[in-house]
Amino acid sequence: MQNPATRFSTRAERVFCCQAYMTDPLNFDTLAVRAGTIRSEFGEHSEALFLTSSFVFENAAQAAERFQAQGEGFVYSRFSNPTVAMFQDRLAALEGAEACLATASGMSAILSLCLGTLKAGDHIVSSHSIFGATVQLFSTLLARFEISTTYVSSSQPEQWRKAVRPNTRLFYLETPSNPMAELGDIAALKEIARSAGCLLVVDNCFCTPALQRPIELGADVVIHSATKYIDGQGRVLGGAVLGSKSFIQDLIAPVLRTAGPSLSPFNAWVLLKGLETLGIRMERQSANALALAQWLESVPGVERVHYPGLTSHRQFELAKRQQSTGGAIVSFEVSGSDDEDKRARAWRIVDQCKLISITANLGDTRTTITHPATTTHGRVSAEARLVAGIGEGLLRIAVGLEDVGDLQEDLSRGLRA
Ligand SMILES: Cc1ncc(COP(=O)(O)O)c(C=O)c1O
Repeated sequence: MQNPATRFSTRAERVFCCQAYMTDPLNFDTLAVRAGTIRSEFGEHSEALFLTSSFVFENAAQAAERFQAQGEGFVYSRFSNPTVAMFQDRLAALEGAEACLATASGMSAILSLCLGTLKAGDHIVSSHSIFGATVQLFSTLLARFEISTTYVSSSQPEQWRKAVRPNTRLFYLETPSNPMAELGDIAALKEIARSAGCLLVVDNCFCTPALQRPIELGADVVIHSATKYIDGQGRVLGGAVLGSKSFIQDLIAPVLRTAGPSLSPFNAWVLLKGLETLGIRMERQSANALALAQWLESVPGVERVHYPGLTSHRQFELAKRQQSTGGAIVSFEVSGSDDEDKRARAWRIVDQCKLISITANLGDTRTTITHPATTTHGRVSAEARLVAGIGEGLLRIAVGLEDVGDLQEDLSRGLRA
């Protein structure tokens, strides 16, 4: 058998190099460990880490060719790198996307999307239930460049239709959202986006392709903060933009090449390792989250639990259609006489945690807890938090791989107090 690195000469062929030996399409778990692999002449089994900023050319003509992007080879790691390419191709295979470009973080993926698709005078319709820094990017930074945003509810497609203007270019949502676990019906929003002539963008950070594949449901573009479940062990930052080949090549690649929010090869290598275990982690962490959410529903002092896998979630039916599990994030609201009392009670639960880590990151094998109103969404205005339902009594738990009984015990101390 020929070495795939030499046998598959073009990038497109390499994407599915492992698949080319098979007669049937490969399944998710196989793609997660094998898709995109480029093997060098040394025959390494694990993916190589190409820690190099540039690549050498055989002669001046080849250098000129590569700079004109006519050749397939690598030039400079701001534009492309074999380890980063392996990560991109594997993630594209898992999302069912034609192409992917990796970025230095989730926020730089969103910024690259905006730089690649928007100009002064354009308009975004976005769910109001999105990550706090994304709200800041849309409302503060993009506003300085005369790009405006209208916020609507993910769960109310009619609001999206009404918010459309002639200059609307993007529909943007997270489903489920951070931290309220609000869902958007991707297929329904796609219909509205199509008639408005704009792109439907889904941040798939919470589900990952292991649980939900937005492109199959109608999304044009998928965004990832790979920092979260794709890494899975809280080690590195990373992000990705996925979509059609022409979208990625024509709109996003020039942003990466020129503005440089590129993923480092080292981080790409860590993320490749993360993808290998994505399926089993998401399955187990979702099961733990469901068990914890069901338990929280029975705890006195817990007013409401937000988890798409619970039958009490108002979008449970949509969650069943769109996702394979409820995911691994559980948010809940503690009761209290007023906002001050709610915050004090919520903070007490956080402060009593000895096992669960008090950190705003999520997607780790270690369970984490945060108080969104004063951390992840602390820079969002009080009015916007109110509209999104992020109150002072709300806590968000990103459930990891520990024993659920131990997690319950850890939370019980603060809940009892
Ligand atoms: C849903 C979502 N999207 C994007 C981001 C930003 O990702 P990063 O921290 O990798 O820039 C986050 C971070 O928490 C997030 O939760």
